[in-house]
Order: sequence, then C-alpha cells, then structure tokens
Amino acid sequence: MSLKDKLDKNKIPQHIAIIMDGNGRWAKQRQHERTFGHENGVISVRETVEAAAEIGVKFLTLYAFSTENWNRPKDEVDALMSLLVKTINEETKTLNKNNIRLQAIGDLESLEKDTYNELQKAIENTATNSQMTLILALSYSSRWEICNAIQKIAKQIENKSITSNEINQDFISANLNTANYPDPELLIRTSGEYRISNFLLWQIAYAELFFTPVLWPDFRKENLYEAIFDFQNRERRFGKISEQLLNFKI
Ligand code: FPP
Repeated sequence: MSLKDKLDKNKIPQHIAIIMDGNGRWAKQRQHERTFGHENGVISVRETVEAAAEIGVKFLTLYAFSTENWNRPKDEVDALMSLLVKTINEETKTLNKNNIRLQAIGDLESLEKDTYNELQKAIENTATNSQMTLILALSYSSRWEICNAIQKIAKQIENKSITSNEINQDFISANLNTANYPDPELLIRTSGEYRISNFLLWQIAYAELFFTPVLWPDFRKENLYEAIFDFQNRERRFGKISEQLLNFKI
C-alpha cells in the first residue's frame, strides 16, 4: 500500500503552509550557483501543488520570498524575481487546467513592476478556479503584516468606524493579508532547520509543525504525503485533554 493510499481522505488538512528551504545548500552540494537550487526548487513547487490539489487540500501557501530576502546579494534577488515571473507566466495555463486559483500575500507593492504586473495578471486569469487556492507569500513577513493590520485598525478607530472594544481575535484576523483564508492546519519546513522565520506567526497558533531534513529541490509528492500522514496521526487537542476529544464522560 502506498503512502498516498494510507492517507485518511476525510482528514486531509484544508490549509498547508510550506517554508521552502535548502535551495542554496542543494546547489552548493552539486558545486553550482545558488540560483541552480532555486531553479530546481520550481520542480518541487510544481510537484507539491499537483499533489496537494489531487488529494483535496484547499489552500496551499508557499513562502517564496521574505521581506528579509531583499537583503541577499542583488544577483540572487534578481534571479529569484526573474524565475518567479517566468514560472508564473509558464504555469498559468496549468493552473487553469487544474482549476487552481493563484493568490499572493505580502508587500506586493515593493515588487518590481514586471513581477507585480505578471503576478496580477495570473491572479486575474485564475480568479474563478475553485479546486485549490495557491497562495504565494512574496516580500512577506509576519511582523510586517501584523504592523500593517494594527495601522489599519488604528485608522478605523481614528475615523470612528469602530470602537476599541470591537477588537477581538476575529477582527485582527480579518485585517491580516490572509483574511480570506482559513488558518493553516499544517506547517512544513524543509532542510532540517527548526525555525518559523517570520512566517504566518498569528495564523499558525494551532498548526501542527512538521520539519523534514529534505532540501526543498528534493521535495516530492511522497514527502508531502509523509507530512500529511504524520499530521493525521497527531492528536490535536486545542488546549483540551485527550478524554474530551474522545467524548469520554469525565
Ligand atoms: C530558500 O532556500 C528558498 C527561497 C528563498 C526561495 C524559494 C523559491 C523557489 C523555490 C523558486 C520559485 C518559487 C515559486 C513559488 C515559483 P535558501 O536559498 O534559503 O537555501 P539555503 O538555506 O540552503 O541557503
């Protein structure tokens, strides 16, 4: 029985978020430039998107470029941006064929005009697709997003459209970039690093975390199934105790 067949189809996480890490190390192991790792990372993106859509994941968020990534050498930033534009351009057809909607979160205004335009075009072209939503986190960082949300909320107080006691968890969520998506239930990070790196800090409050030593360019469908299988065998208590989840009288 394959790992895919072992998955409980009724317990597929509806939202998976992935910190794709290890492209640079993968390239270095092969005596190549770091960008070679990013190029091969695109194959993993394709495989993962396909696998997730096939098994019924509804939202897949990929951390493609962080706010902090702007501090990398200019050559690498330029190469990553060109790769993004090229990939988005080439993959729009496949996204439509597979009924996948593209969305993006992050400080999109900070992207170069070409990148921004290409992204918006793909977002518009895939807007009515409904099998799965693929969310690219681009020029994204969670603290940036939270600061932004606080500014938006402060303005609403300033112009008296809300009062401070209307601020609750749902209201904060509704003012984040991710307002239209459910919180991720599973967060995967590749490459053996055990960090969250400023990714979806608010949204992953109850997510299960899965860390794998696999470098992102080596990540394949089986690796995704492995993470989901692990997820399905965890007990998600949300602060309760086991017996409450099993409906025992206590
Ligand atoms: C982290 O590896 C990866 C990135 C910063 C970029 C991820 C981008 C891609 C996979 C390519 C395009 C993506 C899409 C969605 C089309 P790293 O460079 O930090 O690796 P290292 O930790 O080994 O140095």
